Amino acid sequence: MDPSSSSGILKLLLLLTAILGYYSTTSYAASSLHPLAARSLDEHRNYTAISDFRVVNRRKLLTCPDPNPYLRITVSPNTPMSDVEYLTVTVSGVLIPDSSDWVAMISPSSENVTDCPSSKAYYLQTGDTSSLPLLCQYPVKAQYVSNDPNYLSCKNKQCQVHDLFGNCIVSTCNGSITFQVVNIRTDIEFVFFTGGFDIPCILTRSSPLTFANPNMPLNGHLSSIDSSGASMRLTWVSGNGAPQQVQYGNGMSQTSVVSTFTQADMCTNSDLPSPAADFGWHDPGFIHSAIMKGLQPSSTFFYRYGRAFQNFYIVNEPGSISVINAVTDQVNSVNVDSIFHIGDISYATGFLVEWDFFLSLIKPVASKVSYMTAIGNHERDYAGSGSVYITPDSGGECGVAYETYFQMPTPAMDKPWYSIEQASVHFTVISTEHDWSVGSEQYNWMAADMGSVNRSKTPWLIFMGHRPMYTSSNPVTSVDPLFVVAVEPLLLQYKVDLALFGHVHNYERTCAVYQGQCLAVPTKDANGVDTYNNTNYSAPVQAIIGMAGFTLDNFTNFVDSITRNVEDSFRIIK
Ligand SMILES: *[C@@H]1O[C@H](CO)[C@@H](O)[C@H](O)[C@H]1NC(C)=O
Ligand SMILES: *[C@@H]1O[C@H](CO)[C@@H](O)[C@H](O)[C@H]1NC(C)=O
Ligand SMILES: *[C@@H]1O[C@H](CO)[C@@H](O)[C@H](O)[C@H]1NC(C)=O
Ligand SMILES: *[C@@H]1O[C@H](CO)[C@@H](O)[C@H](O)[C@H]1NC(C)=O
Ligand SMILES: *[C@@H]1O[C@H](CO)[C@@H](O)[C@H](O)[C@H]1NC(C)=O
Ligand SMILES: *[C@@H]1O[C@H](CO)[C@@H](O)[C@H](O)[C@H]1NC(C)=O
Ligand SMILES: *[C@@H]1O[C@H](CO)[C@@H](O)[C@H](O)[C@H]1NC(C)=O
Repeated sequence: MDPSSSSGILKLLLLLTAILGYYSTTSYAASSLHPLAARSLDEHRNYTAISDFRVVNRRKLLTCPDPNPYLRITVSPNTPMSDVEYLTVTVSGVLIPDSSDWVAMISPSSENVTDCPSSKAYYLQTGDTSSLPLLCQYPVKAQYVSNDPNYLSCKNKQCQVHDLFGNCIVSTCNGSITFQVVNIRTDIEFVFFTGGFDIPCILTRSSPLTFANPNMPLNGHLSSIDSSGASMRLTWVSGNGAPQQVQYGNGMSQTSVVSTFTQADMCTNSDLPSPAADFGWHDPGFIHSAIMKGLQPSSTFFYRYGRAFQNFYIVNEPGSISVINAVTDQVNSVNVDSIFHIGDISYATGFLVEWDFFLSLIKPVASKVSYMTAIGNHERDYAGSGSVYITPDSGGECGVAYETYFQMPTPAMDKPWYSIEQASVHFTVISTEHDWSVGSEQYNWMAADMGSVNRSKTPWLIFMGHRPMYTSSNPVTSVDPLFVVAVEPLLLQYKVDLALFGHVHNYERTCAVYQGQCLAVPTKDANGVDTYNNTNYSAPVQAIIGMAGFTLDNFTNFVDSITRNVEDSFRIIK
């Protein structure tokens, strides 16, 4: 918001998405659905590496009893892979195509897990109850061959054996499916299975495929480090651990600080190993981070990073899910200053390769404007690791991967709270997964931070955390009453204008609320936009903005249709 709009009128012109809690100064009608967002569920299913492709049951990979001699699996193009590649995988020589035939993408190809206790509990611990391929190795992605509409009907027939008169006596069928692959540094292999996800056996495997540039510096994303507007952090991933450079502006440069994490940094449990410490592990390479200083606020800068700088490009990737496309469209067309994503960042939950896919996915926006994050249960929670909640929701990552990829201006490792000012807004970002009880370190920080806001300089105060205080979704599982009792009084005391939360996969907004009571309701302005008059402050407005990027939660306990406004689809809400 520009300073001229800071008169105490809060118009809900926020552009919010759930993969992205996204903040903008542009005004749109309250419920417009960006056309690119309309098909996001479909595209999510097709392109992301998570959920349906989440792996499973650590059992031995068995070879099917009598794979026929004609079976082959081939991959095209058959050249070293570029950083974003669409591979067509063809299975051929199939005598009888079956709906249980499927193909998995494995990485690294040498991965070998032999002694696998077969229990779905390993996977269910991350909360993923989808129908999943039961493999020993973690398939990065998997698809049924019947996704090729010509497979089961054997439209692509090939004769294998002719009789003496030239008649075909043995014919086989082909099927082709496409996989999007991003540069995950380690080589990959495609494995053709039958038996469905539950009782898979191997029909045949492809040869290993390598990336042309496994050390390529990739997926640079920006974040703010302070409120000056004169510096910006760039974080990128490379297979090479030697310090690299970012060059920016007119001849300025900085050298990267390199970090990484290992399997030993993951949290686990001797009774039920976490995916992160076990079969979900994938080497993250090296995370490079450099702070670009000496920038002019409100200006556009160009930068490039890496060693030889051969990699300077900012492209929009095809295959990004539609939410990102919609947000990219906004970043490219209107004046977006910053993006906030409030927890449940990549949903890798212990299947670490998914961070690479996620970073590749957000690149079109995160390479252009600062991408600020808060931690959520799926990044942090794990029993015995110091999280407030002892669910296994992080799959054993216990915040380590998140904090390495998204380095926010926090006080220290595993203290993921911070504040930052942009134009006339002060943002206070907390972790609902770390102790927030009265008198705790984080509680004292929150109070001190919000108490020190100069409301002449930044009249707006926006508070963010992952778990909400109010929801029409199941409040028993979504709201911790102890959190509300401890922290809500601070919001009122320090006159927070707006509190933003995620966790619940939907959108809703409250009246100006305190202790369950509406102290003020919005009025519609001439354009039908809900407007809260905060000149005479009453209480914070709270909004859940968790609606993009995953299936929506149902609101079963819909409280008051006048004061709560629910959108029931994947949307960008402004
Ligand atoms: C998703 O994949 C299915 C099956 O391949 C295809 O029919 C559908 O058009 C795809 N949807 C989108 C949005 O790409
Ligand atoms: C997998 O590991 C086991 C035990 O370490 C070994 O016997 C087996 O040969 C390995 N298989 C492959 C394909 O490397
Ligand atoms: C089936 O696949 C094989 C091997 O890739 C190929 O030689 C053949 O031409 C394919 N047949 C059809 C009908 O596409
Ligand atoms: C608060 O901000 C205003 C406007 O920027 C400034 O004039 C004033 O000195 C600040 N007050 C304090 C205590 O820093
Ligand atoms: C401001 O709000 C208080 C109570 O919330 C009310 O008593 C007072 O009349 C209001 N003032 C104005 C100017 O609306
Ligand atoms: C906002 O409320 C104040 C008093 O509380 C009033 O003076 C002002 O006119 C209101 N503004 C709008 C735009 O309604
Ligand atoms: C939400 O509720 C509707 C109506 O009761 C139901 O049809 C739908 O399947 C539910 N969706 C989910 C994700 O539970």
